[in-house]
Amino acid sequence: MTTRVVVLLSGRGSNFKALLDADLPVKYTAVISNRPDAAGLDYARRQGISTIALNHRGYPTRETFDEVLAKEIDKAGADLVVLAGYMRILTKEFVQRFEGRLLNIHPSLLPSFPGLRTHESAIAEGIKVHGCTVHFVTPTLDHGPIVIQAAVPVLPDDTPNTLAARVLEQEHRIYPQAVRWFAEGRLVISDGLVNVRDSDVSQWVLATP
Ligand code: GRF
Repeated sequence: MTTRVVVLLSGRGSNFKALLDADLPVKYTAVISNRPDAAGLDYARRQGISTIALNHRGYPTRETFDEVLAKEIDKAGADLVVLAGYMRILTKEFVQRFEGRLLNIHPSLLPSFPGLRTHESAIAEGIKVHGCTVHFVTPTLDHGPIVIQAAVPVLPDDTPNTLAARVLEQEHRIYPQAVRWFAEGRLVISDGLVNVRDSDVSQWVLATP
């Protein structure tokens, strides 16, 4: 049976677009955004994918919002929920409800630099290798079983923008790979670690400048 995917996003949606471009063996049952003006939502609409705008500002608490969000996801039908630049912290209840079928992409080599402004922090720390991570989501922010990572060099004249662009290019490679593995039923989580069954693609990517 085709894997049904619901995508959550808050912004431009370039990772979502990369997923679509990869022509994965999945069906996108809905794209949901907490920001009605998200460009990614507009893009989904133009691709004929059903979209839902749920403005978080209309809800009194994070819990009530996440409850409604979870119901919309269930209504759409989801074997997998993909966070693609979804810029809201999820409640523990939400994460537990979708645990094992909730993926996120984060612009750093986790567990380094969880949270926001990862590229600024990477430059400020003077690290030489940076990157991005696709991981299963757990209740701890930007933490959870790691599916695939890509590493990029940090160059001496990098700004947060140039570094972000180099990382983003790799995000667009590794997220489709992770979703493909999930759809193929190859991802096995055991003791918090992810193994990929019967695949000759590695769980790491090293990008050259
Ligand atoms: C990406 O850098 C992703 O790693 C982070 O948010 C950004 C979303 O970008 N979680 P886009 O909306 O997919 O272009």
